Amino acid sequence: MSEARRLVVGISGATGIAYGVRVLELARKAGVETHLVVTPAGQQTRAYETGMSAADLAAMADVTYRPADIGAAIASGSFRTAGMIVAPCSIRTLSAVAYANNDNLLTRAADVTLKERRRLVLMVRETPLTMAHLRAMTAVTETGGIVMPPVPAFYLNPETVSDIVDHTAGRALDLLGIDVPDLPRWGETPTERK
Ligand SMILES: Cc1cc2nc3c(=O)[nH]c(=O)nc-3n(C[C@H](O)[C@H](O)[C@H](O)COP(=O)(O)O)c2cc1C
Repeated sequence: MSEARRLVVGISGATGIAYGVRVLELARKAGVETHLVVTPAGQQTRAYETGMSAADLAAMADVTYRPADIGAAIASGSFRTAGMIVAPCSIRTLSAVAYANNDNLLTRAADVTLKERRRLVLMVRETPLTMAHLRAMTAVTETGGIVMPPVPAFYLNPETVSDIVDHTAGRALDLLGIDVPDLPRWGETPTERK
């Protein structure tokens, strides 16, 4: 599998696990090989927010790793990937990534993504934000990461929660150059050109 067709996906314990699930679904549809790591808090939100078991979630990826497995392939820069999306990204994980605190496989893989100068997209979910949160976002941006809070675009007139999740997950994949064919885009439907 070429590096361009390989994506690391991290799911941490912020609310909105649906974003990570949709990233996995869309990447699979696009023929991209996914490598997944879910933190223990991410497993907790899975249980709260979905009817999926841990095995159901793991089955959505091509390869799944345990967060404690810091010797896994994605912990090394020599394992080539197109980049990594953390969806959703908790403030705890954001902070760890911002300061290279590689305390589990997710944060280690994110740091590897940055050190190899690959794309890292953090779908940070928290509100309201403190100065500490904002400083961590600044630090990660200065290191080359992309902070992409999952904020809905209402100009597309979403009808369901799923529409909102689809659009945000698709935009995250856009940032890695992974094509999502049916993603609604401003200026690409006749009504918007009026
Ligand atoms: C139901 C639930 C929702 C949560 N939502 C958020 C959230 O939106 N943002 C956040 O930063 N933390 C949230 N947390 C707290 C994190 O799960 C917690 O800080 C945890 O230590 C994050 O660990 P991780 O970064 O290793 O996944 C939530 C926790 C629970 C149980």
